[in-house]
Amino acid sequence: MDLFEYQARDLFEKHGVPVLRGKVATTPAEAKSAAEELGGGVVVVKAQVKIGGRGKAGGVKVAKSPEEAEARATDILGMDIKGHTTHKVMIAEGADIAEEYYFSVLLDRANRTYLAMCSKEGGMEIEQLAVERPEALARVAVDPIDGIDEAKAREIAETAGFDADTVAKLIPVLQSLWIVFVGEDATLVEVNPLVKTGAGDIVALDGKVSLDDNAAFRHPDHEELRDISAENPLELKAKKLDLNYVKLDGQVGIIGNGAGLVMSTLDVVASAGEKHGGVKPANFLDIGGGANAEVMANGLDVILGDEQVRSVFVNVFGGITACDEVAKGIVKALEILGDAATKPLVVRLDGNAVDEGRKILADANNPLVTLVDTMDGGADKAAELAAK
Ligand SMILES: Nc1ncnc2c1ncn2[C@@H]1O[C@H](COP(=O)(O)OP(=O)(O)OP(=O)(O)O)[C@@H](O)[C@H]1O
Ligand SMILES: [Mg+2]
Repeated sequence: MDLFEYQARDLFEKHGVPVLRGKVATTPAEAKSAAEELGGGVVVVKAQVKIGGRGKAGGVKVAKSPEEAEARATDILGMDIKGHTTHKVMIAEGADIAEEYYFSVLLDRANRTYLAMCSKEGGMEIEQLAVERPEALARVAVDPIDGIDEAKAREIAETAGFDADTVAKLIPVLQSLWIVFVGEDATLVEVNPLVKTGAGDIVALDGKVSLDDNAAFRHPDHEELRDISAENPLELKAKKLDLNYVKLDGQVGIIGNGAGLVMSTLDVVASAGEKHGGVKPANFLDIGGGANAEVMANGLDVILGDEQVRSVFVNVFGGITACDEVAKGIVKALEILGDAATKPLVVRLDGNAVDEGRKILADANNPLVTLVDTMDGGADKAAELAAK
């Protein structure tokens, strides 16, 4: 789960990372009173969207008075930033910036460890810097057991080329940012810019945090960070039903058992789709091992709720999941949906209890269901039906 900047700011504060005060507003009037509560001086009005490059897109603006904050919030609220609508702004205390730095720590999957990145030249051009002058961006591996202790923080800051005075000031801040990373089970903590103020203090002015959903069970408090309005409603529904579902941008709904089989089903459907006017898979849905009729019915319910879906391919290889349970689930789902079910289903069953499964579907004799023998044949049929 990616967090909004204001949520990252709160986590930073909780773990002792120096931040400035900030308040969230959803209307221009709220933005004005937030600026008043912050003392009526200079503030920065910042679009809260889960995408980078807000500043360049016009989503970060300085305001010298509460009235100006109200005006800037009027401009920014509702603004589209790379496909993300701005529903909230953060009114942040204005910082007296002397220098802008960059710092991040992330999971480095390729090297099976954590990686810290740091640069004296932070700010809005960091992506460009990483490409054009990679040597200006220090990369230091972080051992997961030792983490960023004082020595590691020093190594990171020195590798980035900071002077001794700044290194000393950065050390406790980098250590606190590591505490955010481990303490909250994050996969990314990025601060750009991490600034030095005119008074010489180090402050995190922007924050990006991605939390590891696999560790959510350790953090019941993270649930309230979830922003329902920013999530896809079908994915949300699937999550409530405990389904492994990812919405994609195609027309053929896919249900299978086992992540590997579902992935290959997406591939064969995409390939077959090329012959049928470019139709594509509409989702990933793995009903997992040992799925019963109810799971199958829930899965179909989610997929058929996707307006883009024009056909569904159910591809099940019965192992722990028995084909008769899958067949019962299909029949049950179609019964519940009744007249609301209008989309054709292509079903390929094989393996455990395949004969029983096929018999259940044959007996139900639903005109929407087509039984096929092979995965490739099923993909082709489903793509053809979606293209109609
Ligand atoms: N509280 C603040 N006070 C003064 N200047 C600020 C403040 N917050 C941000 N800025 C200035 O605005 C610039 C852009 O802000 P910020 O980094 O938050 O957004 P962004 O980098 O454009 O967004 P993203 O990191 O999502 O790409 C900063 O580099 C900094 O110069
Ligand atoms: Mg930034």
